[in-house]
Amino acid sequence: MSSYWSPLVHSLDPYIPGEQPRVDGLIKLNTNESPYPPAPGVAQLLQQPATAERLRLYPDPNSQSLKDAIAEDQGLAPAQVFVGNGSDDVLAMAFMGLLKQARPILFPDITYSFYPVYCQLFGVEYHTIPLAEDFSLDLDAYTTDNGGIIFANPNAPTGLAQSLDQIETLLQRNTGSVVVVDEAYVDFGAESAVALIDRYPNLLVVQTFSKSRSLAGMRLGFAAGQAHLIEALNRVKNSFNPYPIDRIAEAVGCAAVRDVGYFEACCQQIMATRETVTGALVGLGFEVLPSKTNFVFARPPAGLDAAELANRLRQDNVLIRYFNKPRVREFVRISIGTDEQMDRLLSLVRSYLQ
Ligand SMILES: Cc1ncc(COP(=O)(O)O)c(C=O)c1O
Repeated sequence: MSSYWSPLVHSLDPYIPGEQPRVDGLIKLNTNESPYPPAPGVAQLLQQPATAERLRLYPDPNSQSLKDAIAEDQGLAPAQVFVGNGSDDVLAMAFMGLLKQARPILFPDITYSFYPVYCQLFGVEYHTIPLAEDFSLDLDAYTTDNGGIIFANPNAPTGLAQSLDQIETLLQRNTGSVVVVDEAYVDFGAESAVALIDRYPNLLVVQTFSKSRSLAGMRLGFAAGQAHLIEALNRVKNSFNPYPIDRIAEAVGCAAVRDVGYFEACCQQIMATRETVTGALVGLGFEVLPSKTNFVFARPPAGLDAAELANRLRQDNVLIRYFNKPRVREFVRISIGTDEQMDRLLSLVRSYLQ
């Protein structure tokens, strides 16, 4: 606390990111990073002397080459793409540029915990809509007059995905405000709403390079939507930080997007490991929600408390995520690592249950 702080800062309750401890040999399954390196072209690029030499120049404020690469990959026009410094940055632009309206916005009670933080920071009023008993997103409940709707699909931390039909029904009903679909985890088996963009002028889809493209450390994310929505994000970006993507990030992002084969192989491997881990955890008595993400949300069997499980794993150098919040405090979230990392996790869990 300080008397020099603005009243806004006094009132903030900031987002708490998952830990990034520097401990040798730690198995990190707490922040949904990829266990695999970025596409091989990324390492090649970083080794070229010209990459460093170009840093004396400002980057392209439009990040045009990256927009072009994403547009081609997603079957969009470049004017339908916005890029940002991680999808958190893209979401910030969307809150400021599209969701800050006179009416409250709507999002689920259990979802990405950054949404209420941005509401506080940007002065956006909101109402939360409870997930159904089975944690599925009840999109039929999003019927009230609103200033916008945002939800993650698949949702976090549950890992559950909604079908494109359900999202389209919501878009048909909710035409008066923007619907933001946060697709941070969509590449692990869910259906992307990018396919609906040409038909719905109020749809904004947000994706990240942090999970399926193994670039959490680079900070890259993008939004896709009709050009008039993208223009709103550009207007906010150019009034805040006109160069959110540095020269290295732009080149790295292009290399990652263009290597479709490597991207698909990583996603397939993570999904295969996820299914094996799910089966093993169920075999040990866990309840595991059917995940379409690179993590599983699981309730340990009676006798093994979720918080205690997270603590014991931590003592054994394995980090997972525990949320001490209503409705989810009996669950843990476990990111999908390599098969070897998951074998280690499972053998530790087995030993705790003996
Ligand atoms: C649902 C969801 N959206 C957005 C993000 C932000 O990702 P990033 O800022 O790394 O792109 C995360 C990160 O975990 C997330 O879980």
